[in-house]
Amino acid sequence: MTSNAIKPQVHGIFDPATWTVTYVVYEKEGSECAVIDSVLDYDPKSGRTRTNSADKVIAFVREKQLKLTWILETHAHADHLTAAPYLQQHLGGKTAIGDHISTVQQVFKGVFNLEPEFATDGSQFDHLLKDGETFSIGALSVSTMFVPGHTPACVAYQIGDAVFVGDTMFMPDVGTARCDFPGGDARTLYASVRKILSLPDETRLFMCHDYPPNDRPVAFETTVGEQRRKNIHVHDGISETQFVEMRSKRDATLEMPVLILPSVQVNIRAGHLPPAEPNGVSYLKIPMNAL
Ligand SMILES: [Fe+2]
Repeated sequence: MTSNAIKPQVHGIFDPATWTVTYVVYEKEGSECAVIDSVLDYDPKSGRTRTNSADKVIAFVREKQLKLTWILETHAHADHLTAAPYLQQHLGGKTAIGDHISTVQQVFKGVFNLEPEFATDGSQFDHLLKDGETFSIGALSVSTMFVPGHTPACVAYQIGDAVFVGDTMFMPDVGTARCDFPGGDARTLYASVRKILSLPDETRLFMCHDYPPNDRPVAFETTVGEQRRKNIHVHDGISETQFVEMRSKRDATLEMPVLILPSVQVNIRAGHLPPAEPNGVSYLKIPMNAL
């Protein structure tokens, strides 16, 4: 376990197009850093990618004279493409994700009828993390926490007094992540959330997304204590049965994310596009009536 006494610097960059927060985590100026959940901008109308969001990350890393050592994903996202290869190309660092990504790859290899050579062992990533595995960002120690439910491969990263919760919980007035994607499970998510909420009250929690209701400004940092008191889906006193019933009813009303098809196809390849066809162009697929 990492010590709550260590307080890493956390810089969040919010992407308004996908409601995603990318984090740069570091000890101090000039130290090593990690980037968690980067975004490659993607226009579904034209099929064009852009790097405006990732360039903001690169500018921050350079401004603080940081050395990027880890490019981390909390899961294979279904709502945005990861910019991991672009960041690696410009800043270096190793890519990593939870080792259950292989389950997600197997499912979607089937859904998208991918090429036989597509490996489902996670080898597209530089490193696969096990539950409880620790690693370093300079002087900071990171502990990997498996938090499945939204997907079977979701992980959270605990770094000192900060936990990057991925798609488990959102801000207290938004609630929790959906559990209706392939391999998702509301009962499992409830257990994962309780695991995070068993940490000390003052633990800082950083969300992967914010979907601010009404006129609330975007926010992505809260604490264990605040979630336990106020989270509309999982505050203390909500039972597993109540949560599962709420989550299942709510998920039945949700549309698929706009970018789910391109996101999944790119993110299970660690952010790389599918192999180019003989004309030099990569193509993504749309499975008809299969999802
Ligand atoms: Fe997600």
